[in-house]
Amino acid sequence: MCGIVGYVGPRPVVSVLLDGLKRLEYRGYDSAGVAVVADGQLELRRASGKLYNLEAAIQRAPLAGSYGVGHTRWATHGRPTEENAHPHRDASGRIVVVHNGIVENYLALKRALEQAGHTFVTQTDTEVIAHLIGNYQQSGLRLAEAVRRAALELTGMFAIAVISADEPDTVVAARSGPPVIIGLGQDENFVASDVTAILHHTRDVVFLEDGHLAVARGDGVQVMDFAGRPAAPPVQRVTWDPIMAEKGGFKHFMLKEIHEQPRAIRETLAGRVSLDDGRVYLDPTKIPDSAWEGFRRVVIAACGTSWHAALVGKSVIEELARLPVEVDYASEFRYRNPLLDEHTLVVVITQSGETADTVAALREAKHRGCPTFAICNVPGSMAAREADGVLLTHAGPEISVASTKAFTSQIVALYLLALYLGQHRAVLSAADVRAHVEQLLALPTKLEATLGQDAALAELSKEFFRASDFLYLGRGVHFPIALEGALKLKEISYIHAEGFPAGEMKHGPNALIDERLPVVMVMPREAGNPASEVRYEKTLSNLQEVKARDGCVIAIVTEGDTQTATLAEHVIPVPAASDALSAVLAVVPLQLLAYHIAVRRGCDVDQPRNLAKSVTVE
Ligand code: F6R
Repeated sequence: MCGIVGYVGPRPVVSVLLDGLKRLEYRGYDSAGVAVVADGQLELRRASGKLYNLEAAIQRAPLAGSYGVGHTRWATHGRPTEENAHPHRDASGRIVVVHNGIVENYLALKRALEQAGHTFVTQTDTEVIAHLIGNYQQSGLRLAEAVRRAALELTGMFAIAVISADEPDTVVAARSGPPVIIGLGQDENFVASDVTAILHHTRDVVFLEDGHLAVARGDGVQVMDFAGRPAAPPVQRVTWDPIMAEKGGFKHFMLKEIHEQPRAIRETLAGRVSLDDGRVYLDPTKIPDSAWEGFRRVVIAACGTSWHAALVGKSVIEELARLPVEVDYASEFRYRNPLLDEHTLVVVITQSGETADTVAALREAKHRGCPTFAICNVPGSMAAREADGVLLTHAGPEISVASTKAFTSQIVALYLLALYLGQHRAVLSAADVRAHVEQLLALPTKLEATLGQDAALAELSKEFFRASDFLYLGRGVHFPIALEGALKLKEISYIHAEGFPAGEMKHGPNALIDERLPVVMVMPREAGNPASEVRYEKTLSNLQEVKARDGCVIAIVTEGDTQTATLAEHVIPVPAASDALSAVLAVVPLQLLAYHIAVRRGCDVDQPRNLAKSVTVE
């Protein structure tokens, strides 16, 4: 959600902070700010709105220093005004705090501080943290100790970075929930909420544990837990290439990430499948083989696009591993007293590995004694670290707020999980697994062919970018793709869009259809697969029902489908594939359609309004 960066070292600190904030802006873009210390004086610049407003403020009133912190905000407490922008000062004005998360007991703490004579100038919970730390420092404590004492009083989720004008060349960071990464350099060190902020400077990082704090100085970093006990977390080398977090000649990150899908899927498959012995290999997990063999049920919890991947996963796991699968919104899962036992595998799907609801669902499952498994894109993230088993999608950093390459990689990861379960349960033979692996390995090339539709979809967007509503329909594994197509369109173009199972139309949504309503029908078919053929025929009838009511149909079909071409206004072909994998191919035109429509409407494609990547609050 919010982005945090801190730096101590010989480089011009303001440029390092601004560069880091630019790379973090996708996490939140309501307001931004930096604070640096020079000659014992703390200076702040803050601005509401996008980062360029902060850059302009700094140009008008330049500042310099030898250490500092910066922040991009996605408002939770208090409106996105300059006043509420981070960093926030303590009562003395000599300490500042940047913060990601929510302090749940901030009102009680604020009341107590007010009674002790403190006055607050913002409505934020962060200002309360600053005052609390300031109080401890005033009592004679070093900054790290003051932060530690304050951290013990806070409840909720927080990642903070703190500097004091009275503690030269020191940045203190603490974590309880949202991630904090310490980047290790030569005579310099970094603090960030996300590796992408510091990847250009160093790939050697420490992922701070929950309940730990770090004291970063130019000459080293000390880590301790909130009880004050020293800790020695391992230094990890991040393998992501910094170039992966650049636009690489594309106009937007979203377009670049759509085009990266063949690579993302190749890398997600690499080393995990073997045609020789017809097996799928996952990284070692804490889940014993006997448990894999004995699962009776799978429950998947996720949010948003990852939840749509879960729905595809349900079909694939039920089909290949013959295990019942339930899919839950992570935000609902933990509040409904779910029925769980040790024979239930709880899978969470999360690109960021940070989504508060999904991490909470994971913890709830662990608390109830279930084996847990995470499908996650960010190494070292909360979900990746806490689950008993992890399958990392190798999509690389996803910067666009609208998820694309992470989604298709998640489906492939779920497919691998389904095969893994199937082989452990002896439901699938080596020959079966080999046949599926062959199809998976052919997928990236088919995706490349599908991306060849980009120009056609850009053209199509001219006809539809003024629409006020869209309907997306699909059956079976294509229903979640319809939901995902609708989500992509609404989040980046602000056009109202809904996805439905095509068979549900008669039960209400048909009333919406008129000549102004574009209806996107996701209807690839797998020749020779009876279930797929039946679904296709039924969807074709639904298409005719839409046509009979003057709706305008855009159909996503399998190449060579001449039948649909005679009925739909527009037909977008995708290469032939198995039913499950056609879901991966069919979503690509929907991503591209949403993208081109949003561009034509002049929307901020990578950073849509009111949203942020990594939703670290519930
Ligand atoms: C939509 C989108 C969101 C995320 C959701 C979960 O394009 O990106 O709906 O899918 O916020 O995020 P993760 O997967 O990081 O848990």
